[in-house]
Amino acid sequence: MRILMVCLGNICRSPLAEGIMRHQIKTEGLTWNIDSAGTGAWHAGEKPDPRSIEVAHRNGIDITGQRARQFVPLDFDRFDHIFVMDAENLKNVLALAPHDLAREKVEMIMNRVYPNENRRVPDPYYGGKTGFDDVFEMLEEACKKIISEHL
Ligand code: 4NP
Repeated sequence: MRILMVCLGNICRSPLAEGIMRHQIKTEGLTWNIDSAGTGAWHAGEKPDPRSIEVAHRNGIDITGQRARQFVPLDFDRFDHIFVMDAENLKNVLALAPHDLAREKVEMIMNRVYPNENRRVPDPYYGGKTGFDDVFEMLEEACKKIISEHL
């Protein structure tokens, strides 16, 4: 299984999604390929936001090795599932999809927990620290569900 986690900057939400998913598959003994990307390029090459690093660390997950990169159309070939955090990410990724098969790979990640509700993982960038705790919890739940549905 090849999974790509996508948000806007690839420094707050999707690095956590990548870290949490890597952590959970390791526990399950799975060897899936997990990566993350942002629809925007402003933070390319940067480490995750310190607040994401902190909440991950507090939960026993090290995401300091990650570096931000922009989503590219080739990612539609490289991955089986592309999980986006909100409706804006969804729109931006779908705009780059070359055909239906590519479009079908893209879904809002929280729809795995709350089907068809199109709930977003809120962008915590401008908020306080509790925003990152909420994001962590949501993504932990979503990753757990994604894995359970594939076992
Ligand atoms: P992310 O959060 O999409 O969860 O990585 C953001 C990070 C940076 C910006 C926006 C959102 N920004 O505007 O720079």
